[in-house]
Amino acid sequence: MIWTVNRLAHKVLTCVAAACLGGCGGDPGTPTTHDVIVIKFPHVVAPGTPKGQAAARFEELAEARFPGRVDVEVYPSAQLMNDDDSIEALAFGEIQMIAVSLSKFDRLTHAFQVFDLPFLFPDIAAVERFQRGPTGRQLLATLADEGFLGLGFWHNGMKHFGAGNPLRSPQDADGLKFRIMESDVLQAQIEAIGGNPQKMAYGEVYQALQTGAIDAQENTWSNIYSSKFYEVQPYFTVTNHGYVGYLVAVNPSFWNSLPDDVRTGLEEIVAEVSEWENAQSIAINEQSLARLRDSERTTILELSDEELTAWRTAVAPVWDEFADNIGSEIIEAARGAATVD
Ligand code: SIN
Repeated sequence: MIWTVNRLAHKVLTCVAAACLGGCGGDPGTPTTHDVIVIKFPHVVAPGTPKGQAAARFEELAEARFPGRVDVEVYPSAQLMNDDDSIEALAFGEIQMIAVSLSKFDRLTHAFQVFDLPFLFPDIAAVERFQRGPTGRQLLATLADEGFLGLGFWHNGMKHFGAGNPLRSPQDADGLKFRIMESDVLQAQIEAIGGNPQKMAYGEVYQALQTGAIDAQENTWSNIYSSKFYEVQPYFTVTNHGYVGYLVAVNPSFWNSLPDDVRTGLEEIVAEVSEWENAQSIAINEQSLARLRDSERTTILELSDEELTAWRTAVAPVWDEFADNIGSEIIEAARGAATVD
């Protein structure tokens, strides 16, 4: 795992300073028996999104089950930090829980690239089958040795493109600057349609669209609606070409330091919230799409089967490019889940 030199230096200095003050007795995230266990849980999307609602529900259920013992602090809308920083902060024990898009773990594992292969999963039900199967369950544990113990997957939804001009065919994307998440598969996908991919934090997208720093982006209806991209983006195209979902993760050292009853109880709550979140996510995205249509501030284009086939064909080479990285076993398991009726 490669962290920035500045970040590491800052951490070392912080620990040295704490030791001088007599306070560096161990991992700052490790609770003693008398401490209230504080779980800082930052994320970047709005409270009304599937993840925003699930994080709030986790807070409510955890504090109700462990009154005075567990204090969950949810920070939505990138109020505390962006996703890249939260990945780093979790590994350093500065925060205790994250639910970061699978695409953003690209620098730590190639296994999650399967979730970014364009047009692999036709819908959320297919993703759900894959994640619940044996290969999907193994993926939850993929990053445990890197400092990210996966407790569950949460869905957001399927992605669609938006731009300043109508995107009916891949040729319409030619030369456009597309904001993407920090994923090499997504970079290759945009290059395959002739676009110019720009990796950018979620919190910067609205302004980048507004100022013309980028021309286009891809996201789910719930993110597009709740972050008001439709105010600064006149055209969206229904493509369902990709998936946004999250790894709900904790730092293993912190988690294993919890009293047994708290750890087990919180794991039960995460499992319950995951079921709830994943059952809500489709409806929340449908509601967001309906609200986008009602806003009359943007045009939503539907494509014919022939038009969609042109997009599929354009991005098909991306699969070959990343097949070795991801591994045939993972890809086959995902394809199997995707093609079940
Ligand atoms: C999120 O849903 O957490 C953000 C996704 C993105 O960065 O586009």
